[in-house]
Amino acid sequence: MRRFPSPTSWLPILAVLTGALVAAPSAPAQTAPVPAITIKADQVTAHVSPTLYGLMTEEINFSYEGGLYGELIRNRSFMGELGKGGTKAVTTPIYWTTVGGATMAIDQATPLNTALPLSLKLDAAKATPAQPAGIANGGYWGIPVTPKTTYHASFYAKAAPGFKGAVTLSLQSSDGKTVFATAKVAHLSGGWKKYDSVLTTGDVAPSKDNQFTLTTTAPGTIWLQQVSLFPPTFNNTKNGNRRDLMQILADMKPQFLRLPGGNYLEGDVIGERFDWKKTVGSVDDRPGHRSPWNYWSTDGLGLLEYLEWCEDLHMEPVLAIYAGYSLHQDRVAAGEPLKPYVQDALEEIEYVTGDAKTTKWGAQRAKDGHPAPFPLHYVEIGNEDWFDKESTYDARFTQFYDALKSAYPKLQLISTITPDEPEAKHVHSRTPDLVDEHLYPSSEGQMEARAHEFDTAPRTGPKIFVGEWATRVGAPTPNMTAAIADAAWMTGMERNSDLVVLESYAPLLVNVSHPTNGRDPDSSMEWPSDLIGYDALTSFGSPSYYAQQMFSTHHGDVVLASDATDVPTWTWQPVARTHNGVTDPTPPAKVLPSLYYDVTRDSASGTIYLKVVNRNPTPQPVTIALTGIASVAPTGEAVVMAADTPDATNTLADPKHVMPVEQKVEGLGTRFTRDFPALSITVLELHTK
Ligand code: AHR
Repeated sequence: MRRFPSPTSWLPILAVLTGALVAAPSAPAQTAPVPAITIKADQVTAHVSPTLYGLMTEEINFSYEGGLYGELIRNRSFMGELGKGGTKAVTTPIYWTTVGGATMAIDQATPLNTALPLSLKLDAAKATPAQPAGIANGGYWGIPVTPKTTYHASFYAKAAPGFKGAVTLSLQSSDGKTVFATAKVAHLSGGWKKYDSVLTTGDVAPSKDNQFTLTTTAPGTIWLQQVSLFPPTFNNTKNGNRRDLMQILADMKPQFLRLPGGNYLEGDVIGERFDWKKTVGSVDDRPGHRSPWNYWSTDGLGLLEYLEWCEDLHMEPVLAIYAGYSLHQDRVAAGEPLKPYVQDALEEIEYVTGDAKTTKWGAQRAKDGHPAPFPLHYVEIGNEDWFDKESTYDARFTQFYDALKSAYPKLQLISTITPDEPEAKHVHSRTPDLVDEHLYPSSEGQMEARAHEFDTAPRTGPKIFVGEWATRVGAPTPNMTAAIADAAWMTGMERNSDLVVLESYAPLLVNVSHPTNGRDPDSSMEWPSDLIGYDALTSFGSPSYYAQQMFSTHHGDVVLASDATDVPTWTWQPVARTHNGVTDPTPPAKVLPSLYYDVTRDSASGTIYLKVVNRNPTPQPVTIALTGIASVAPTGEAVVMAADTPDATNTLADPKHVMPVEQKVEGLGTRFTRDFPALSITVLELHTK
């Protein structure tokens, strides 16, 4: 969707376009007054929540599989067919092909173990030294090959009697013409055994149109399971995460990670929920499960990996626990039936926080490789329970609340129902510590119209976690119009962060290799408008990513009082809603500000951060006055992100088309005027000590 300039802002454009044909206005042109922002440097209105800026994550858009999780092989456990809705049994090793005249089949009779109860039977009867036979995997829309890189491959194999051959692993171009790296396993055992190898590339050009093959030159039959290939990971963690994506997240300096969802927490049905116990321990003992986003998760990135991800980026988990409701109206009744789920949540919290020596689940975590407990202050009970048509959340929440508060009195418990939901859905029996609010406006006007909503919100109820939000303009990643509306919204959250103590944009990640969306079973995107995009090889932040980063890396610890005069406006015409083919009357137009701002200060350094969002397509002069302070240093800094057009955006091909630029600023003082560029977000740093 495109943004619309206000009617008056079209006039100069029309004049230029039509030149002398436009009659000069008869009255003298009125110069718009210069808006003035006054910063009351001696008036603190709130403390900035130290945990305000965080991340929200789930398995959507190939966020982990084919995304953050380092695994390069698609469908390594051959269970992937179960990821497609409605599939009951695995019959085909999807995403695998054969090479050299081999045949392959799923073999339910030769399981690796109870978690991975099948294998791939490879019949290489025709294999010869001249024509090796085997299987190939093209990864998640390619396999990244980079120069001088060591990859770690592993697989389980079992050879049929009589098979005496070696197995060759190869990283090669998709057409098989260029081989980048190989490794050989000389002999396979007759029983299941794990084999590990390394493959190292030479000084090759980066590419992604590649495949991984496992072949033999000797005729015979072998069974395979858990065929895996990892590139170097962030911090070189085994079973770890992709480096560029971890870095782009680290650059946001996030304070928390809301995990594991989202819809992914709930699953479509109870059996497809995030069943945390099945996601810990050896990856070879994790069955995996179907994401409600319609593909298979190996759960290689399981609960412990989420927590280690938090640790790596110095974030705290905001742990969402399954609360007895799944998306297809599948629910567990409060009372006796819900007790095992409450117990499961208690044990999950113990796994995260329990002492390794004195608690059962803390000891399990230590056994899994992490003796130290993780910090945990926030637990969310469920996700978006307003979708529960039987309105059973109050009773379910109460049961979880009582058990969790009794075992962990200091935990802050988050309800998924906000006050704007119908009364029948509300939590009445207990008072949550926080409520999780989600908003996904599909136009910039819808988002900007809400930028001031927290200014007048009551301070008497629970604190607010804006756990999912985004201005959904631009796909697969948002454009500058969205980033500007996001920034307008963020000024409101930051200004009111005594009330809004946590915020996280969603969704976070999208694989943009094949972002067809909709019903395409091979789409790499289920939800258009995601913060960070990538393919197998490279990644980029959207303008909305940079807006987030500008806010999360430039804020102080207190909010300063501020006000403004002569703020310019634009007129937003909301679109009439259509339900069941009937369109409502067109809603009234709304006059909205075209300038948004908020002011914070870092008490230790005295730096004042003034954030200004100019959504006008023309530069906007603004006079800034500071009161309650003797002086401001004449030199400061500005971080400015501006775009030439509202739909300017970043892509794999042009990843830094729109991004913030740092500047030195002169001529500052307790009163100065500055031009804020057209379509821009600015953080102005004023030094007061
Ligand atoms: O962010 C995408 C989805 O939006 C989340 O999974 C869900 O919580 C919300 O409806």
